[in-house]
Amino acid sequence: MSIISDTSIEEVRSSADIVDVVGDYVRLKKRGSNFVGLCPFHTEKTPSFNVNPGLGIFKCFGCGEGGDVFSFVSRVEGLTFPESVRLLAERVGIVLPEADVPGEEASENESIYHALRFAARFFHDSLGSTDEAEVARSYLKKRGVTPEAVKTFGIGFAPDGWDHLIKAAEAAPINVEILEKAGLVVPRKDGSGHYDRYRYRLIFPIFSHVGKVLGFGGRILREDDEPKYINSPETAVYNKSRVLYGLYHAKNAIRSREEVILVEGYTDVVALYQAGVQHVVASSGTALTDDQVSALSRYARTIVLLYDADKAGLRAALRGIDLVLKKGLIPYAVRLPDGDDPDSYVRDNGGPAFEAYLRDHRQNFIDFVYENARAAGSMDTPEGRASVQRTIVQSVALIPDDLVRESYLRTASSRLDIPDLQLRPVLDAAMRGERRAVVRQERRQQARTSTEEQPAIRRRSSQEGPLPMEKKLLRLMLEGGIPMIEWIMGTMPLADFTDGPSRIMASELVHQYEDDSFDRQTFFTNVQNEDVRSLAADVMTLQVEPSENWTRRKNIRVPGLDENSTEAAASAMVLLKLHRVQEREDVLRAEIYRLESAGENTRELNQQLVDLKRFEKAVRERKFIASA
Ligand code: UTP
Ligand code: MN
Repeated sequence: MSIISDTSIEEVRSSADIVDVVGDYVRLKKRGSNFVGLCPFHTEKTPSFNVNPGLGIFKCFGCGEGGDVFSFVSRVEGLTFPESVRLLAERVGIVLPEADVPGEEASENESIYHALRFAARFFHDSLGSTDEAEVARSYLKKRGVTPEAVKTFGIGFAPDGWDHLIKAAEAAPINVEILEKAGLVVPRKDGSGHYDRYRYRLIFPIFSHVGKVLGFGGRILREDDEPKYINSPETAVYNKSRVLYGLYHAKNAIRSREEVILVEGYTDVVALYQAGVQHVVASSGTALTDDQVSALSRYARTIVLLYDADKAGLRAALRGIDLVLKKGLIPYAVRLPDGDDPDSYVRDNGGPAFEAYLRDHRQNFIDFVYENARAAGSMDTPEGRASVQRTIVQSVALIPDDLVRESYLRTASSRLDIPDLQLRPVLDAAMRGERRAVVRQERRQQARTSTEEQPAIRRRSSQEGPLPMEKKLLRLMLEGGIPMIEWIMGTMPLADFTDGPSRIMASELVHQYEDDSFDRQTFFTNVQNEDVRSLAADVMTLQVEPSENWTRRKNIRVPGLDENSTEAAASAMVLLKLHRVQEREDVLRAEIYRLESAGENTRELNQQLVDLKRFEKAVRERKFIASA
């Protein structure tokens, strides 16, 4: 990549408004000549994160993080310095010298972005200038999409045919492998090249919150084509669960109103935006995710969820409400008149009428849950009423802010017509449950991060140290010698021992068993590794007793071993195995959740989960242990 000159860097720095840039990540409030907000680099409840626009710097007095606009972007986006400069340059519209040798020195992601930008321009130009696109132009006209909106949202047209984009990219030149990595072309099954993913479709580019093209949604123009939309697959730069359609265009309006409207479709966003309702985004056909709500929480305090009156719509709204509450935002739900979607409503009635409708029909989440439960007949029986109360209080329990939570508890109490005092124990119980769930969720999140890095089962890192049951096993092997090592290591794979000293020690024991050199007295002296020596010393001080009720099921006999230590080893092996099963399960569940949120197929993973459960049962029944 070519070097970016100091003058260019200074030009970008002086053009990028640090308050605006930081404001994409942190909800900022003006205080004197500075701005303050909650630090994005550490968890805090009271704002200690400061931005000084005069000096162009930020500083967190909580965690000490600070710097200029480039250090902020590089820290928050995980980019290198030159990457941050490029990102900001693009944002403020400064053209930096392109990377000299695309694909060779430029990072692959930059090549992908380049290809996406190229494709967006290609589709947009095709819409504007080809005869073939007349069908798309007249379609847009018929739907009342204005030329300004077409321009703002970069709407385009993909011509009919298998290789229009491929040919244009070839001339650019852009490598077809990069097109594939960008999700723009599909490899032919027989391996004879690629074809364009989007053919004869109206194209909606999907932008990141800083305006980079990440992918596309392509709508049919022939009513009998299938499917209605073709969307980009997930790529190195496009993570569907994080992106919201329209956010780039909406964020200023969202910021100034501290509110965002969430709709379903691309066309809804465009129609509302051009009618002047600009604080609107879409989750693009997938269910709202945690990450999307986090993204919105940087700009908004309230989220208005528009939903369909059908069952699926209600369920989606209920789920959305809980996600929103959990992130500390306030959800409202609005149902449009039957048969209307935001696009048709605003086309028929105009922007101001749409806003008035939202003002008059928005329900806070308590009224929303209550009214829908009543309409469904759930308030007609005592059991039904109890369950509705619990549902509502459980949602209230999700609110992180004490004062807001209290105020909603009062709302719930008056809506349900139950004294506060009577609801409070329900809330307390729900909050205890919620805290447990939060811990579980965090554990899953950790598991998920580590699966992204390494697909293998998540292991405790050596820093966390060996588990108590594996220490027991090590102790038993040191003590029981050859027959015990033979039995335990014949039953447990080495990989079940925690990476680090524990696994090294187990493998050392196997090694000494194999060349018949094991001797407890000299084990310490023979081991070179300092950590393993200290672990060995540590485990020798352990008290290893079989569990109390082992006598009731002593069915394991291993030649050369006494029953007590056999049982102690068997139960430790079961526990260690169960621990690994649990880790695997956490990873699977997190992955299933992630795919579900992205609207993707989880059948295979669910099958793995079923198999894992079966395996877990076998472990509990000790079926994996060979008994002589
Ligand atoms: P809609 O069917 O409501 O489409 O799906 P729409 O955007 O309002 O389109 P019009 O008004 O009929 O032209 C809502 C959203 O669901 C996603 C798209 O993001 C769409 O905007 N979707 C829908 C898909 O991803 N694939 C589909 O096949 C259908
Ligand atoms: Mn629609």
